[in-house]
Parts: sequence; structure tokens; C-alpha cells
Amino acid sequence: MDCEHSGDTVSESSTKYYTLEEISQHNMSKDTWLIVHDKVYDITSFLGEHPGGEEVLLEQAGLDATESFEDVGHSTDAREMLQQYFIGEVHMDDRNKENSKDIFITTSGESSSWKTWLIPALAAAVIGLMYRFYILEHKSS
Ligand code: HEM
Repeated sequence: MDCEHSGDTVSESSTKYYTLEEISQHNMSKDTWLIVHDKVYDITSFLGEHPGGEEVLLEQAGLDATESFEDVGHSTDAREMLQQYFIGEVHMDDRNKENSKDIFITTSGESSSWKTWLIPALAAAVIGLMYRFYILEHKSS
């Protein structure tokens, strides 16, 4: 019974995922792919139409062009144009590698948390003892 629904497990099963290695092979004027914001575009037919010239697109062919695309400050028209060349997305394993660094920062923060209260507590104890001796000295004299 359930076997009939096995294809429904991933609702967006039509989305294709490409690895960076696979994308990098489409780096020539006859076959040009670009990555913009983790999405993959086949812009081969757009090269000659690009108002900024085909040179700049070929420089980024097979690579992540997000930074240069944003640096130019493309219009919303340009962003809408992108959609017609959409072919898939960058594979999850090849995305945002920097995120893993955040995990290390949080774990190292945890280990030092006990030090944050131990040092002031020791300082308070030392000051308390010094005060006690000071009072005792004054009482005896
Ligand atoms: C496939 C993705 C791209 C699309 C659909 C696209 C589309 C466009 C469009 C429609 C314009 C006209 C101005 C505007 O509407 O903003 C433009 C201008 C421009 N684009 Fe792109 N672009 C793409 C990628 C890139 C990349 C990766 C670069 C890299 C440097 C680039 C560089 C430029 C430059 C320099 C201009 C300005 C041309 C001028 O004002 O003389 N574009 N682009």
C-alpha cells in the first residue's frame, strides 16, 4: 500500500543538485554555467545578450559569481532574467563551508564559562580573608 507513495518523500524532487566539481566543468563559451546565491544557471544562450558583455560572464564560467554579480548592483530586471536560466542548486555538501567555524567558536566558549565565575569568586574570597585579618588586628590592639 505505502509503496505507491515512495516517490513523495521529497516534495521538491524536481530540483536538481550539482556538486562544485560538476559545475566547474561547464566553463566554456559553448557550455556556460554560473552559480549565484547557491543556484545554478545555464547562461550559454545569454552570453551574447548580456549588457555587460560576454567577457565578464566567461571569466566566472563554472564558478560562483555571486560576489561579482552583487558588486555590479544588478537591477531587479536582471534578477528576474536569471530565473529563466535556472537549472538547479548547489549540492548541500558544497555550500557555506564557513558555517562549520561557528560551531568551534561556540564550543570553545562553553569550556571557558566556568572560569568566568571561578576567578571573581577566588578574588572575593581573598579580599574577604584580608578584611577579616585587618579587623582582627585592629581589635587586638
Ligand atoms: C547570468 C547572470 C547575469 C545576468 C542575468 C545579468 C544581467 C544584466 C543586465 C540585465 C544588465 C543591465 C543592467 C541591469 O539591469 O542591472 C547587466 C549589466 C552588467 N552586468 Fe550583468 N548579468 C549577469 C551576470 C553578471 C556577472 C557575473 C557580471 C560580472 C562581473 C556582470 C557584469 C555586468 C556589468 C559590468 C554590467 C554593466 C554594464 C553597463 O552598465 O555598461 N553581470 N547585467
